[in-house]
Amino acid sequence: MAEKPSIDPLALREALSSFATGVTIVTTVDDDNAPIGMTASSFNSVSMDPPLILWSVTKSAHSAPIFKDADYFSVHVLGADQMTLSNRFARSGADKFEGLEFNRNEKNIPKLPGALTRFDCKTWSVYEGGDHWIIVGEVFEMEAKKGEGLVFSGGSYATAASIQPPSAMPQSEDGPIEDLLIYNLARSYTQLSQKFHASVESSGLTIPQWRILASLYDCHTRSYSDLVARTFVSPKKMNNLLLQMQGLGWLTLSGESGSGSITGTKAGHEMVADLFDLSAKQEDQALGDAGKAGQTKLIELLRKVIANTNVVD
Ligand SMILES: Cc1cc2nc3c(=O)[nH]c(=O)nc-3n(C[C@H](O)[C@H](O)[C@H](O)COP(=O)(O)O)c2cc1C
Repeated sequence: MAEKPSIDPLALREALSSFATGVTIVTTVDDDNAPIGMTASSFNSVSMDPPLILWSVTKSAHSAPIFKDADYFSVHVLGADQMTLSNRFARSGADKFEGLEFNRNEKNIPKLPGALTRFDCKTWSVYEGGDHWIIVGEVFEMEAKKGEGLVFSGGSYATAASIQPPSAMPQSEDGPIEDLLIYNLARSYTQLSQKFHASVESSGLTIPQWRILASLYDCHTRSYSDLVARTFVSPKKMNNLLLQMQGLGWLTLSGESGSGSITGTKAGHEMVADLFDLSAKQEDQALGDAGKAGQTKLIELLRKVIANTNVVD
């Protein structure tokens, strides 16, 4: 008889975290067809013929009984920019789909936006593995796009690019336009925001929602006109958007619509906390060896441009 192993569960968890994995969100539906999902890094391939994959769910998860009995489920492999979505689906029991736009596959299973790859599976077998259920699925449909995957290692998120430096971009020849501030601002903004905005959208927020929540970060209060100037949302759209966001509990409105003030809530703050961290990481990458000092100087200069060109009181 094997002796009871004297492995400390916390030490085991810590030791296992040295094994870098990808990150997935597994979705299914309950008996009422309500969407269910959870973040899982235990995903792995099993067999090519038949096409089988597996993942494991802790028995203590709210959704464990649903996944154990589900006939179908989908595994979404997350992209490097989907950290916020991963955190959303790692919250226990909450309505993780609230405010998230998603479609369903032919078996009614939720398909999440922005994932790199999706495997639609029919449950093949469920095994008991100690305090987890090991769920094996047969892949009957999949969708894949090219991109960088989200990595989980040592208890925190990383990307393959943060491990491997990107290869140098070929530089085209300079021209007089390179000396124009407006060109440099437009090009750097476009390139930086392309990557970041993809992250915002895959977190389930629209760009205007992100801009509003970011302007109200730390439960800030701002006047209506200040918010319009900061977010570039037209006054026409702003009213409806603010009411919708108040309904979601992300901010509170006071005073007359169109002239009152808007205050961010803790829930609103939490919606964008990870995006703030991600933005800081992307900025560090973009600034390269200019570092913190270069960033401070650049922001200082840009603030002068903002002040000298501001037409809003
Ligand atoms: C990166 C990451 C990977 C995770 N992988 C798993 C996993 O493979 N299996 C699991 O049961 N829980 C995993 N979790 C934890 C679940 O996502 C978390 O317990 C979730 O709250 C379960 O939701 P539920 O209680 O609503 O079912 C992971 C969490 C994170 C952040």
